[in-house]
Amino acid sequence: MLKPQPSLQSQFSSCSTLTPSFLMHKPFVIGNGNSIASLPIFSMQYSFHKKNKNFRIVTVPGNNVKAVATESSTEKATSVKTIVTVKLTAEGDTDWRDKTLLLELVSAQLDPKTESEKETIKGYANWTSQDEGEVKYESDFEVPADFGEVGAIFVENQHRKEMYLKDIIINGFPNGPVNLTCNSWVHSKYDYPDQKRVFFTNKSYLPSDTPEGLRRLREEELVTLRGNGEGERKTQDRVYDYDVYNDIGDPDSSDDLKRPVLGGKEHPYPRRCRTGRPHSDNDPLSEKISSTGTIYVPRDESFSEVRQLTFSKKTISSALPGFLSNLGNLVSDRDPEFTHFTAIDSLFVSSATPNDALSNIKYLSRKLFNGGENLPTPEIAETKGWKSWIKSAVSRIGRVISETQDDLLWFATPETMDRDKFFWLRDEEFGRQTLAGLNPYSIRLVTEWPLKSKLDPEIYGPQESAITTEMIERKIEGVYSVKEAINQKKLYILDYHDLFLPYVSKVRELKGTTLYGSRTLFFLTPEGTLRPLAIELTRPKMEEKPQWREVFTPSWDATGIWMWRLAKAHVLAHDSGYHQLVSHWLRTHCCTEPYIIATNRQLSVMHPIYRLLDPHFLCTMQINALARSALINADGIIESSFSPGKYSIELSSVAYDQQWQFNLEALPADLINRGLAVEDPTAQHGLKLTIEDYPFANDGLLLWDIIEEWVRDYVNYYYPNPRAIESDQELQEWWTEIRIVGHGDKKDESWWPVLKTPKDLIQIITTIVWVTSGHHAAVNFGQYTYAGYFPNRPTIARTNMPSEEPSDEFFTNFLRKPEGALLQCFPSKTQATKVMVVLNVLSCHFPDEKYLGEAIEPAWAENPHINAAFERFKGRLKNLEGIIDKRNADRDLKNRSGAGIVPYELLKPFSEEGVTGKGVPYSISI
Ligand SMILES: [Fe+2]
Repeated sequence: MLKPQPSLQSQFSSCSTLTPSFLMHKPFVIGNGNSIASLPIFSMQYSFHKKNKNFRIVTVPGNNVKAVATESSTEKATSVKTIVTVKLTAEGDTDWRDKTLLLELVSAQLDPKTESEKETIKGYANWTSQDEGEVKYESDFEVPADFGEVGAIFVENQHRKEMYLKDIIINGFPNGPVNLTCNSWVHSKYDYPDQKRVFFTNKSYLPSDTPEGLRRLREEELVTLRGNGEGERKTQDRVYDYDVYNDIGDPDSSDDLKRPVLGGKEHPYPRRCRTGRPHSDNDPLSEKISSTGTIYVPRDESFSEVRQLTFSKKTISSALPGFLSNLGNLVSDRDPEFTHFTAIDSLFVSSATPNDALSNIKYLSRKLFNGGENLPTPEIAETKGWKSWIKSAVSRIGRVISETQDDLLWFATPETMDRDKFFWLRDEEFGRQTLAGLNPYSIRLVTEWPLKSKLDPEIYGPQESAITTEMIERKIEGVYSVKEAINQKKLYILDYHDLFLPYVSKVRELKGTTLYGSRTLFFLTPEGTLRPLAIELTRPKMEEKPQWREVFTPSWDATGIWMWRLAKAHVLAHDSGYHQLVSHWLRTHCCTEPYIIATNRQLSVMHPIYRLLDPHFLCTMQINALARSALINADGIIESSFSPGKYSIELSSVAYDQQWQFNLEALPADLINRGLAVEDPTAQHGLKLTIEDYPFANDGLLLWDIIEEWVRDYVNYYYPNPRAIESDQELQEWWTEIRIVGHGDKKDESWWPVLKTPKDLIQIITTIVWVTSGHHAAVNFGQYTYAGYFPNRPTIARTNMPSEEPSDEFFTNFLRKPEGALLQCFPSKTQATKVMVVLNVLSCHFPDEKYLGEAIEPAWAENPHINAAFERFKGRLKNLEGIIDKRNADRDLKNRSGAGIVPYELLKPFSEEGVTGKGVPYSISI
């Protein structure tokens, strides 16, 4: 029974005016806690008394309210202690001692007599200790024997500020502690007076197995998370909803910054999180840019504090925009390109230097500020406030640069360049990186000859490629005919013809860039490496000009070699753009956001599939929001540094429309689709690779199998038969919403997997998990290693091929100093350094990175079956580390081992923090 404190007791005895609520007999209707939030606490207590007749009022020492149930005369109550752990914020909050948390224990069972929900047991949790960034609050409860199992707890934060609730543990029950892992922000009761937070225990339940006492709460919590689709979202809201990409332009600032809406019939695209900002004055289809500079994400999707601090130090969220705009002003109109290769080399310092983005600023500052003697160290700067330090550094840079005319930035040497300074020039390295570099997702088997476009010949010119049989047979030196080479799976292609060609005219109207459609053909050598044979660059018919195209090949004469290098720079810019816009942004970051939204809207936090997926979604919505504000936004880093300019993100919509299929996001299906593997029941993974030494595929398939086995163990435990899948309404709604809403522009495609059996679910979940872990890691964490030295992967090719419209003057200069033509074609100083800073940040693991299989989720750990499956999962991942090391030491595997070659470690599961070129986090965390 309940024990009001003296203060409450006096209220209790003098509250006759409150009789209506005091005498409330109806079942306790909670509604996400909302409906009781404004009721006097004693009305609830009284209601509870009436069900438990053997109660007495007890005075509890101290000035805090304690509402507890005590032993009845007929039933044994249990004394339990509830410990709440709150993570401290870095803002140095001081009032955590003074206030309390109001807790209400919720029974998982209904009252057997009335079949209605039991009353909750209320009590205030008081501050008890503070240590290592955590605060503990405790409350004692007496739980009557007939209360049943505790299934959930309501938490009301009595402080003025929100708090980050880590977990709640109830100790004292005979069956052991009851755990509630929260990891969630709890608002102040003053901010949302009508809402109270509910947390469920770590036990997972399919909807049909939900204890009766929790059913309504389960459903109502989902209703809260779905929101009503109206109004502008506030920072502390927890609403997950959908919208189109109508927020990357800024039409109110300038017509030039207007961008088409991505999402819908014209530009199909996945959906993003709805923020509800007002629409632009100049373009009613667009959303205004955020007035605060921050973009809403549901509160629990925001970065952890350590990540937020690290991230702001590492520049993107706070320092980078100012830093880069300053940098842009300094160099954009003066001496835009590097004039010689040694100027590029001088950007780099010894590889022994710290390899994070911070070092760039530090080195820059040391160089510019009297050798750095008067500079604060980063540690001191941090205590004094990083932002002001960086701000002052940036403002000084301008002056010093103009005085010294010195080079601008100093970067840690990427490992590729550190091992072999001339790696980027080698053709075999060009081929190798299509299999083991930053974009291993584009290379395809050639299956038809001649190569043919699917574009309209009336608009774009002849469909048939200019790469002829004779050219290829000459290049492969008569070993095979083209027909034999194709039959024996020896010819491969990077095909950026049909995707880019329709944009060539438009892009060429932009200043400082150009574009071609391209086809690059490779031959698989007896050594198992890829040798580039030919590059075809095409410009379609443009106004008065007829179509232009030319095939370039590796040559044995000086002019031919330099033309080949220029053509390669164009293809690398195409590959760089495709990598960033499609393989990376679209296929991982962008396509995953609808999965996250649907998971939170349709699967209860107590749903086992929610709990399986949740770690795979950490930080993704926040990093995507940052990308919308600083990377893919109009005139942002991508648009200003990549060949397609303002059409960059639109091109990712074309790729989504033409190429993206959920079923092909599964690695085995992707490899088969590209002709890089064939089904073979006798082979490992059931697949035979057409290029045996394909490091990404070889390591990726092992990782895919490991993930699939874990997912299979997990899914089969909760879904023993197909009926369980089909009858799980939450699960079915989840999958329907992903297809119909989140990826609604593709809803009518026939390739969507059905969800009828455990096998279907295993395939769907494994695909999502692979995309968020292995796929993303493979295309993300090698960015600085492979693109940090930008001649290896220029993001833009700014000049046309000299042979397209040759001018005598250009050719004279080209023949005199061809290096100059290549440097003019490469990114400008501003573009190159901007991208290098960003790639450094994006390649970086944060100190709190969560690697696949490293730590078990608390809810998984509580279930012995899942716990054991996780241990096997973890063991296999550790084993994978050893296998990858062994492969990298095998000199016969020439695509990952050899003189000056960076070993392929991008799919090694674990890593230290920083830019390491390895490590597979659970989620798309950067
Ligand atoms: Fe990423």
